[in-house]
Amino acid sequence: MFKQILAGFDGSESSKRAFQAALHLAAESSGAVVVLTVVRAPEAAELEGEVDAALRETNGALAKAIGWAKQQAQQAGVSCTFRKQIGHPAELITRVAGEGKFDLIVIGRRGHSPVKHWLVGSTTDRIVDHAPCAVLIVH
Ligand SMILES: Nc1ncnc2c1ncn2[C@@H]1O[C@H](COP(=O)(O)OP(=O)(O)OP(=O)(O)O)[C@@H](O)[C@H]1O
Ligand SMILES: [Mg+2]
Repeated sequence: MFKQILAGFDGSESSKRAFQAALHLAAESSGAVVVLTVVRAPEAAELEGEVDAALRETNGALAKAIGWAKQQAQQAGVSCTFRKQIGHPAELITRVAGEGKFDLIVIGRRGHSPVKHWLVGSTTDRIVDHAPCAVLIVH
């Protein structure tokens, strides 16, 4: 049922748990996972037309998290593609999900925000409102 899975990945612990759930579901359905990380272009890069360079460079913690995810995918034997795009996280995740004919979006309940633990994050909130497909929120 859920074969084409889009996982929103910001490197947070919650998004790591979501990614593991995505791998599990894909393994069961012989499906595939696309891992999407949305980044903001530094203003200088946008002004100077160096957005491609900004996309290539990934800061330490995020690079480490993506490395971990690649290893997990390999161990699970699941087909997994990693994408990094510039934009607004919720807007881009819902758009990519619609364009790519995904069956399921998998995201964490929270991301990097240290406060408001009793609320779901704003990215998750917006994705639930606008998603073109089913959404799995992993705690
Ligand atoms: N930049 C991003 N790229 C990809 N996925 C993301 C991104 N930001 C958030 N997500 C996804 O959304 C989930 C929830 O994160 P969210 O941003 O809603 O919470 P938060 O960071 O704690 O709160 P807020 O951003 O509202 O301050 C994450 O676990 C991740 O799956
Ligand atoms: Mg966030």
